[in-house]
Amino acid sequence: MSDDKIKIAVFVSGGGTNLQALIDKQKSGVITSGKISLVISNNPEAYALERAKKAGIKYAVVPRKECATQQEFEDKLNELLTENNIELIVLAGFMCILSESFTSKYPKRIINIHPSLIPSFCGKGYYGLNVHKAALSYGVKITGATVHYVNEIPDGGEIIMQKAVAVEDGDTPEVLQKRVMVNAEWIILPQAVEKVCKLLLMCN
Ligand code: GRF
Repeated sequence: MSDDKIKIAVFVSGGGTNLQALIDKQKSGVITSGKISLVISNNPEAYALERAKKAGIKYAVVPRKECATQQEFEDKLNELLTENNIELIVLAGFMCILSESFTSKYPKRIINIHPSLIPSFCGKGYYGLNVHKAALSYGVKITGATVHYVNEIPDGGEIIMQKAVAVEDGDTPEVLQKRVMVNAEWIILPQAVEKVCKLLLMCN
């Protein structure tokens, strides 16, 4: 714990717009109980790494493809987390599977942002645009985003926060994805991070 803040690691794989929301809300004082101390990507090309660099945040790349096994991948992740005294892991657009042996090491210390109102459109195969395609083909009028604790069940952990977003006539998956990001994900992820960090500080 550095200067009374929870040390946070953000796991990313792609564009990093949720990471950017966390960086911006840490700067603007929405996140005060935690400090983004490390960004880890499985993808060396992730633009999220540029965002970390620009913000002066330490980052590391652990290419899943270069690890012979899931265990080797997770051992490398754990080494980085231990070296940096990380107390909370935030999955923000992270596309790799984490095993039960990994998640069970961090009970209620891993959270994830999912682009639907869980329990709708979640679980195996529901990621990225697939989530919004499913919502549109089902014909729901309301969708949104969910922040939840991560356990061994994909998108199965306790829900922390949700925010609803209207589906508009004529929405494409891309248009809906952007509305969910802007009006839900980028708002509730920083709020949920602050809420969880505050809880963890009380436990320390
Ligand atoms: C977002 O839709 C997020 O909900 C999902 O991954 C997508 C990309 O996130 N988990 P980001 O732009 O890399 O933060």
